[in-house]
Amino acid sequence: MRAAERLRKIPPYLFMELRQKIARARAEGVDVISLAIGDPVEPTPEPVVEELARAARDPANHRYPTDEEKGMLAFREAVSRWYARRYGVEVDPATEVIALIGSKEGCHHFVLARVNPGETVLMTDPGYPAYRASILIGGGEPYSVPIRSEDGYLPQFADIPTEVAKRATAMFLNYPNNPTGATATRRFLAELVDFARSYDIAVCYDNPYSEIVFDGERPLSFLSIPGAKDVGIELNSLSKPFNMTGWRLGMALGNRDLIAAISKVKENTDSGVFNAIQYAGIVALEQCGDNIARMLEIYRRRRKLVLETLTEVGIRFTPGRGTFYLWVPVPEGMTSIEFATFLFEKAHVVVAAGAAYGQYGEGYVRFSLTVTDDRLAEAMERIRKALK
Ligand SMILES: Cc1ncc(COP(=O)(O)O)c(C=O)c1O
Repeated sequence: MRAAERLRKIPPYLFMELRQKIARARAEGVDVISLAIGDPVEPTPEPVVEELARAARDPANHRYPTDEEKGMLAFREAVSRWYARRYGVEVDPATEVIALIGSKEGCHHFVLARVNPGETVLMTDPGYPAYRASILIGGGEPYSVPIRSEDGYLPQFADIPTEVAKRATAMFLNYPNNPTGATATRRFLAELVDFARSYDIAVCYDNPYSEIVFDGERPLSFLSIPGAKDVGIELNSLSKPFNMTGWRLGMALGNRDLIAAISKVKENTDSGVFNAIQYAGIVALEQCGDNIARMLEIYRRRRKLVLETLTEVGIRFTPGRGTFYLWVPVPEGMTSIEFATFLFEKAHVVVAAGAAYGQYGEGYVRFSLTVTDDRLAEAMERIRKALK
């Protein structure tokens, strides 16, 4: 049966051939180590699991979620307190916060809530591929703004053609950035507010890596910039800071008109997040801050190991200060897919080829630090042998 036209516009997975090789090797029993996906292997903190078990046993929570599409007020209040504590941001839990089924859901609903068919939506190249898919499914036209290493992977607003900026009604941004690991500065975010205000562009600042920062970098929220709430929302998520990717719990905060519009989309799409998961999320936000410190220590250690290994084999670069990814330049004369294929064939290690994130991602591969220390050490040993 034919699928809808809008789905055909979503680019196919670029590296089918490599993916098939990996599947074949695994089927033949080859021990493949994947550093291609950002999905923490450490467990969710125990108090969160306990709270889920408690709340799941309460029949009151077996019914449709409370306040359905918005999320329970208690969860929204916990989010609001978290933002005040961690980022110095005040948000009204009644009107400026909504619970999400992960921040990815927020990306999708943001487009449906804001963008009319045919309107231009800005995103970065390289960038998180789900933005393009959300824009296309929502009927918008993606426009990619290049981000370059020499600019710290921050878009240069002056380089966006005026007619494009005038046409655009929305923009996706994400710092700490997947895939480059770059972080934003307050100055850049202030420029973003000005740019968005000048062209009436609604900003979707996707911030699920806000807590994953290194080398003295401080967690930063777009909403801490004066005027940000007038021009956009921020998405965040419990996935990365609390090892909860599978739980599907996130939040959107900020501009109340956009929050109300997203709420309307959700009201007509899903019926919100299971109450028991929201209760567990409150425990994560209120009691599990130490998990973040513990995970940062683990990522710091792994990051050091990968950087040392790469330096040893002659790949030198300055890493970004955020996320659990490393954006690694490929050796001279190779494309990102050639290097990814080389690492797979010679070391049975899988990394994400930069070209999957856009044309400006060419020349890089992305290493993820979300495998156990042992597996990472084994992967680095194999890479050392393959490249020496
Ligand atoms: C930039 C970015 N946004 C959103 C997500 C999705 O996160 P969530 O689990 O909150 O849906 C990811 C996941 O990798 C991501 O990298």
